[in-house]
Order: sequence, then C-alpha cells, then structure tokens
Amino acid sequence: MKISQRLQQLEPSATMAMAAKAKELKAAGEHVVDFSLGEPDFDTPRHICQAAARAMQEGHTHYTAASGIPELKAAIAKQYQQRHGLEYQPQQVVVSNGAKHALHNVFTALLDPGDEVIIPAPYWVSYAELVKLASGVPKIVATEEAQGFKLTPGQLRAAVGPQSRVLLLCSPSNPTGTMYTAEELAALADVVLENDLLVVADEIYERLVYPGHQFRSFPTVRPGLQERTVVVNGVSKAYAMTGWRIGWTLSPPELARAMGALQSQETSNPCSISQHAALAALEGPQRCVEEMLEQFTRRREYVRQRVAQWKEVSCPEMAGAFYAFLNISAYLGRSYNGTRVENSHQWCLALLEQQKVATVMGSAFGAEGYVRLSYATGMQEIQEGLDRIERFLQSAQ
Ligand SMILES: Cc1ncc(COP(=O)(O)O)c(C=O)c1O
Repeated sequence: MKISQRLQQLEPSATMAMAAKAKELKAAGEHVVDFSLGEPDFDTPRHICQAAARAMQEGHTHYTAASGIPELKAAIAKQYQQRHGLEYQPQQVVVSNGAKHALHNVFTALLDPGDEVIIPAPYWVSYAELVKLASGVPKIVATEEAQGFKLTPGQLRAAVGPQSRVLLLCSPSNPTGTMYTAEELAALADVVLENDLLVVADEIYERLVYPGHQFRSFPTVRPGLQERTVVVNGVSKAYAMTGWRIGWTLSPPELARAMGALQSQETSNPCSISQHAALAALEGPQRCVEEMLEQFTRRREYVRQRVAQWKEVSCPEMAGAFYAFLNISAYLGRSYNGTRVENSHQWCLALLEQQKVATVMGSAFGAEGYVRLSYATGMQEIQEGLDRIERFLQSAQ
C-alpha cells in the first residue's frame, strides 16, 4: 500500500522505540533499569482520580466544547495570572489531548509550506517531526554544552532568514534539564521582536524546577511578547498524569480560534473525564506537586553526585525537568566486551544488551556524543542503574 510522502518521512519516536526495546527484555524476564521514558513514576494523586470518578458518576461523559470545558479554560487562565501575572481570557485557551497534540495544533495552524521553525538542538524528539508534518521546515541550530545548551542571541540572529516564522523554546529543557534565566530569555526576546518572529514556548516542565533556580514564563520578560507567543503546557509532568492526555495552549485569540476549529474537525474534544481530572489538579491542593518535586530533587542530587565522579563524562547543571544529558563522547570509538561502539546509538544499544539499562541516544535529540537519562524512576532503580552504567564505562577499552 502506498503511504503518503509526508508520513514516509516521519521518524517514529526514538524514546518510545527505546522504551519498547526495554519492555521486550523485561517481558523476557530480564531486570531492566529503564532510564528511557520521560514520565513520572508516581501515581496520579488520589484527589485527582476521585474527581474523575465523580465526573463519570455525575454524567460528564459526553462531548464537550471542542477547545475544552469553560471551567478548565478559566482555571488555566487563572493559573497563568496567579503564577506569572499574565492576563489571558478563557477564549485564548485551547485544551488538547496532551501537550504533544497542542504542539501539532500550533504548527498546523501557523505554518504554510516552506515556513521555518527555528529549533535549538538538543531538542525534544517530536518537534522537528511535528513541524514537518505541518509542511514546515525545521531549522536546527546547534547550541553549546558550555552555554548549558542554551541558544544565544547571536546564534538566533544568525539563524533567522526570510522564511523564518517561529522560534521554539523549551525551558526547562527536555532533553538537557537546563533552563533559561530571565535575562537570557529577555536577550532572545529582543532578537524575536527585531525580526518579527513568533515564539512557541514549551513550558511543560515549569513546575519541576530545582532549588536555587527560578523559572520565568517567556511572555513576561519583555512587553509585547504575549501577542506573538504561544505557551504550551499541561498536567502530564507536574501532576503525574501522562495517561490522561490533557495539555493546552495559551495564545492570541485568532490563533486559539483556528486551533479550536482544527480540533473540532480532528478529535472533537479532549476526554471529558480527563478534563474534570485536570480541573481538580489545578484547583485542588498543590502539596502533591511539591512532594513529587522533593523526591525529584533528592534523585537529581544523587545523579549529579554520581555522574560527577565518572571520568571523562560531563553533564550540564540540571535546573529543571528530570533528565541528565551526559557527554559520553570520550567513550565512543571504543570496545565494550568485544563490541565496537562508534556513536551514541550503538553505545545505548550495547549498554542495554550488556547491562540491561535503557537510555536514549543523543543523536535522537540532534546531539551526537550524548545520552539522555530520565531519572523519573525510584531511587533504588536509579542506584542500580548508575552502578551498571559505571561498570559499563569501566569496561571500555
Ligand atoms: C518538552 C515536552 N513537550 C511536550 C511533551 C508532551 O507532553 P504530553 O504528554 O502532555 O503530550 C513532552 C513529553 O515528553 C515533553 O517532554
């Protein structure tokens, strides 16, 4: 059967592919330590699940407005007002089936064939594919480890061309765990304003920021940014709700209208029950977010200390999210128990085969020579997994 040209070019998600391999090994009885998937290991807090059960009992089991129930849209707008001082009207909010779907909506609504989206690398695996799916052109700009993998104003200025329309920023970052400061964002905002760019600000890890680091929402750093920014966020990471599939955008009203129309044709609406659960997440007690962050903070500190002891491996300061992005370039071009490893993909496969630890190769994020560990797993597993990686590194010849 002939598959469309567009889909023939689509790369399946590398993180999901590694997780699937790890699952296969687990099914075969192996104890695999899984550092591959970017999802919190915690259960969704009880009060959120109870709200979902209540929603079902109360009959919230029908189609909803395409862009989400009014109560949830209002709660999202209120949250941005309270947390960041940004004023949005509920009609500027579009609730989708996860932040990934929200990004698909954004690119589909904004891009015409040939329009460029500037994406700093390392980048989250789905960005470039979603841009291509919407007939846009991803313009990948490499950043430096020494700069915390953050795009500099000079790099942005050099990347802007006549076809450039959108800058994509992900902060705190998947895959690097680094985060832009307010000053760094403001310097980028100046270039954005000079060049009349739009910005997609993926702030899905906003609530997972470690002590000593301060998150700033992109539209707050300069006047005039709110009119040219689409903020993407959701409940998946902050509330351990990856399976519920609720994400959203906050955008200028005309874009929200376009995305609402798109959604009304593509999916009708996000799951009615999940929307009520997300409402409970936003409006209910926030202690659960703090508790999860406390655990992530302990894990992050442990990972940081262990990795710092590894010879010839570096890792930028982890400011947010739950990823460590390791520079393993000194360990390429070497052999591991007779297996020659030339690149990060082969390195991850050899690690999985020999030590049963699943990670994701940097090449999937546009950064060869690196590997991403997700420490969204229990402390014991983290200890065991890092012991195994240490043994793997020591076996390099
Ligand atoms: C940077 C980033 N944006 C968006 C998403 C998608 O989130 P969701 O599960 O809500 O679709 C992820 C999930 O891994 C992510 O890491």
